[in-house]
Amino acid sequence: MKSCLTLFFMSTIITLSTAGSVRLVGGSRPCNGRVEVFHDGQWGTVCDDGWNMDAATVVCKELGCGKPVRAIGLAHFGQGSGQIWLDEVKCNRSESTLKNCGSSGWGVGNCKHSEDAGIICSDRIPRLVNGSHLCSGRLEILQLKTWGTVCDAAFDDQDAEVVCRELNCGVPVQLLGADAFGKGEGPVWTQDIQCRGNESYFVFCPTSSLPKKCSHDNDVGIICSGYSQVTLVNGSDSCSGRVELQYFTEWGTVCDGCMNMRAASVVCRQMNCGIAVSVVGVDWFGEGSGEIWADVFECQGNETQLSQSLHKLSTAAPHNTYHRSIRLVGSGGDCAGRLEVFHKGSWGTVCDDSWDVKDAHVVCRQLQCGVALSDQPVPAWFGPGSGPIWLDDVNCEGNETSLWNCSSRVWGDHDCNHKEDVGVVCSEFKEIRLSEGCEGNVEVFYNGSWGNVCINQMDRDTASLICQELNCGRSASEPSYSVGLMPTTNWLDYLKCRKHDNTLWQCPSLPWGLNNCYYNEVARITCFEEKSDLSPRSHLTSSTSHQRQCSNQFSLRLSGGKGRCSGRLEVYHNSEWGSVCDDLWDIRDAQVVCRQLGCGAALSADGNEAFGAGEGVVWLNRVECRGTEIHPWDCPHVLNNHTDCSHKEHVRLTCAD
Ligand SMILES: *[C@@H]1O[C@H](CO)[C@@H](O)[C@H](O)[C@H]1NC(C)=O
Ligand SMILES: *[C@@H]1O[C@H](CO)[C@@H](O)[C@H](O)[C@H]1NC(C)=O
Ligand SMILES: *[C@@H]1O[C@H](CO)[C@@H](O)[C@H](O)[C@H]1NC(C)=O
Ligand SMILES: *[C@@H]1O[C@H](CO)[C@@H](O)[C@H](O)[C@H]1NC(C)=O
Ligand SMILES: *[C@@H]1O[C@H](CO)[C@@H](O)[C@H](O)[C@H]1NC(C)=O
Ligand SMILES: *[C@@H]1O[C@H](CO)[C@@H](O)[C@H](O)[C@H]1NC(C)=O
Ligand SMILES: *[C@@H]1O[C@H](CO)[C@@H](O)[C@H](O)[C@H]1NC(C)=O
Ligand SMILES: *[C@@H]1O[C@H](CO)[C@@H](O)[C@H](O)[C@H]1NC(C)=O
Ligand SMILES: *[C@@H]1O[C@H](CO)[C@@H](O)[C@H](O)[C@H]1NC(C)=O
Repeated sequence: MKSCLTLFFMSTIITLSTAGSVRLVGGSRPCNGRVEVFHDGQWGTVCDDGWNMDAATVVCKELGCGKPVRAIGLAHFGQGSGQIWLDEVKCNRSESTLKNCGSSGWGVGNCKHSEDAGIICSDRIPRLVNGSHLCSGRLEILQLKTWGTVCDAAFDDQDAEVVCRELNCGVPVQLLGADAFGKGEGPVWTQDIQCRGNESYFVFCPTSSLPKKCSHDNDVGIICSGYSQVTLVNGSDSCSGRVELQYFTEWGTVCDGCMNMRAASVVCRQMNCGIAVSVVGVDWFGEGSGEIWADVFECQGNETQLSQSLHKLSTAAPHNTYHRSIRLVGSGGDCAGRLEVFHKGSWGTVCDDSWDVKDAHVVCRQLQCGVALSDQPVPAWFGPGSGPIWLDDVNCEGNETSLWNCSSRVWGDHDCNHKEDVGVVCSEFKEIRLSEGCEGNVEVFYNGSWGNVCINQMDRDTASLICQELNCGRSASEPSYSVGLMPTTNWLDYLKCRKHDNTLWQCPSLPWGLNNCYYNEVARITCFEEKSDLSPRSHLTSSTSHQRQCSNQFSLRLSGGKGRCSGRLEVYHNSEWGSVCDDLWDIRDAQVVCRQLGCGAALSADGNEAFGAGEGVVWLNRVECRGTEIHPWDCPHVLNNHTDCSHKEHVRLTCAD
């Protein structure tokens, strides 16, 4: 990959000039090249007779390129053409421009273009070292032939934007200080770096002369998105097709459900294709063959590049105590998921040996997610991670403020595999469901239990946002009254989303548990894909321009049985209900499904034949749960159009209710 990156630089011909009097031509970097001067209406070269570091000093300074590294002759950067303007140049280093140095006079001399002079200036070349990939790592800058590091206090988001851009690595996703990628060697850059953010090369960023107090303990690191280019494949013209993104050198498609109208607008703008007309379903332009990038693009709609909307992993500022990071991934929320810890430039997982609820409490506290839920399985399971397993035998008292205060084996020392990755569910973890899949009573999960959402003030826009979060379609019926189950908490009331709310959890409501919900008046809604949504105009004027969250979740229901807790299992995908094939299906899978449906324990995994055979598409197959997963989509599964499952083999089940 390194060689590809080099190739990119080499093939780019860079011309650098200021105010039109001196420029560098033919170098691979902005501050290297053949020196050309402008005189009498045309550009001409400089002869290398008498060419030395004094002259190079003047030119480097004149171009804002720092200090000279080499003065170089014999047309090292290729032969120019036209006039040879200067010969026998003599500078004393205090000139502000090459034109003020001594010479034999404009156009006077006996040189050929094979003697054209060039320079290499200090150039401030950035690189990222010791990250998990080419676009992440400790920031190092080459200056005067020496690689050095950068103090975290001297460096901010705008500076990172320029570095990521220069490295062809997209945009910054996270800044990490305090030697998160290990300590470097050599000098530490301590002067404040003041990029505007739009510079094409780091060398053009101004710096202040006031140094900060720094050591290698403060070495800054960057994780760039890695996404650079976007293209549309297999459409009828260059402005339609399947979205593919380049990640370093590899092209791949974007995870289904990550693309909404806002993201599409950004892609269209990035490709100079005007405004987005419609987003069409999967398979419309054929399936991609490469990777599927699972990153979340949370577009506002005003970004100029899709990668600018890449979900920031952390909002931590680079100057405070974020020494090391932890996160929970795979649940669709920040407060539940597989535990991952950041060390030596990579996210890794934690092994479940001797993991208990006291350890989970510390994680929840550190993430400001409340307390660990002990009525959920401990540890919870959110599927296997990848990459290193960083911690094992973690042992907290439960009162620590951070996981780093707890004892454990040393980093990377373990006897585990990824089947033992720890998951955590905290009390602030929130989730929503409808009692019958894509219709029914609105219920939310909070503080460890499911409860009702009451109907007061709920409108259609709010209901539509719920449908979109559940991948159940873009629109909803007007909410109607329904009576919830009496023993259940009424969790939310007066829930009313505003136009700019992207997820339900941003919408105002009464505090958790407070309500005016007489007779348990619960909101009931029905989701659907509005036909007119497919017309271009309604996309642009739709009042519900809420974005759908990128998630792999799907809605489930049981049909053909008595009540909602037994029957043939169906899954909602690509705007259609489909059956589930029973390859590998067993009682552990049924447990997870019954729990998700709020139907208690599973009684049988091979339900009554009387539930009937399904018709139409089979969406899901090879579900392999352990039984302790929080959601069915945390289990390995294949979600696809399965044409090889006969309708006799569909999953049927009965839950205890
Ligand atoms: C350097 O050269 C410039 C222009 O020829 C002259 O004005 C200046 O006095 C010189 N400085 C020194 C230190 O020789
Ligand atoms: C990267 O880290 C490894 C150990 O993790 C170390 O051996 C190597 O020297 C480091 N490389 C650089 C350029 O810092
Ligand atoms: C960067 O933005 C500033 C104003 O914000 C502008 O003056 C400058 O010309 C821009 N530079 C580039 C290279 O676009
Ligand atoms: C283009 O799409 C069609 C189906 O619409 C598919 O058969 C074909 O393989 C696709 N080609 C590419 C290059 O993706
Ligand atoms: C887009 O708009 C939001 C809010 O209006 C603003 O905070 C954000 O910086 C904008 N993003 C870009 C890339 O202009
Ligand atoms: C944490 O709890 C342990 C024993 O349970 C106690 O010894 C220790 O002092 C406590 N630490 C703090 C900071 O409260
Ligand atoms: C956790 O560690 C930090 C820094 O090492 C220390 O300041 C803090 O007192 C510790 N807290 C507990 C509860 O151990
Ligand atoms: C969450 O549950 C705990 C224990 O069950 C309880 O003490 C706490 O008050 C609850 N919080 C809310 C907001 O209901
Ligand atoms: C599933 O695939 C079959 C065969 O390719 C096709 O006829 C059918 O329309 C597909 N169904 C859906 C819902 O994509």
